[in-house]
Amino acid sequence: MQATDYPQGNNPAAEFPPCRLGVNIDHVATLRNARGGVDPDPVRAAHLAIAAGADGITAHLREDRRHIRDDDIRRLKDEISKPLNFEMAATPEMVSLCLEVQPHASCLVPERRMERTTEGGLDLVGQAEFIRPHIDRLLSAGIRVSLFVDPDPNQIEMAKTLGAPVVEIHTGDYQQAAFSTTPERIQAAFDAIKAAAEQAYELGIEVHAGHGLNFQNVQNIAAIPQMRELNIGHFLMGEAVFMGLDQAVKEMRRLINDARTGRLV
Ligand code: PXP
Repeated sequence: MQATDYPQGNNPAAEFPPCRLGVNIDHVATLRNARGGVDPDPVRAAHLAIAAGADGITAHLREDRRHIRDDDIRRLKDEISKPLNFEMAATPEMVSLCLEVQPHASCLVPERRMERTTEGGLDLVGQAEFIRPHIDRLLSAGIRVSLFVDPDPNQIEMAKTLGAPVVEIHTGDYQQAAFSTTPERIQAAFDAIKAAAEQAYELGIEVHAGHGLNFQNVQNIAAIPQMRELNIGHFLMGEAVFMGLDQAVKEMRRLINDARTGRLV
């Protein structure tokens, strides 16, 4: 599918601040763990991504430690020169670890052991009282909290009620829509993300997005004026096999920058 098959953002974001690129290095650890040992090193990948233009690094410490491990998170915090976004489930164990590591930010996500990847946003509406104490603990320790949510107005509203300074809008449905072949579905998925970004911004919440972003779909998301950060992992690591991580990050950075100034491919 060509980039032009996606709806074109008609709202150049030039007058808004730039959109940051957070590189998720989980799948460098996936590759390492496939064989055990220490190679390839996700921290080395983080340094390389930063040198290529990443504004921050994201790592998801899953409860089952299937890719990133505790030691990776600690090394990332100690060694990288850009902000660390510690992605995690809202559990007492993870919150305690996060308080110990003191990353720049914590992105709370739902986690189910059998899923291959994070399959959707948090149900803030259904689980507000469960998640609230975790958010409060992190915020009172000075850690910026981002809530990963579907582009649903009720979830955004609840993020505000819970006092989250940031939401990360789940873009997985938008990516999947590309395979459904109907332009209406792609448009509807895009419109929901755009509306959620506008709503969050109006409520004073910083807007991030991520999941399933690639060279073809990133520009329309990056062109949403309220978008301040995109977190991208799996596609970049896949492209790194072909073009190198340095070039993959640089190309993603270029596409995001161009989208902000209205130069859509
Ligand atoms: N943001 C969040 C909250 C995620 O859970 C993930 C996947 O780990 C990403 C961004 C990155 O998604 P992808 O690997 O598909 O680029």
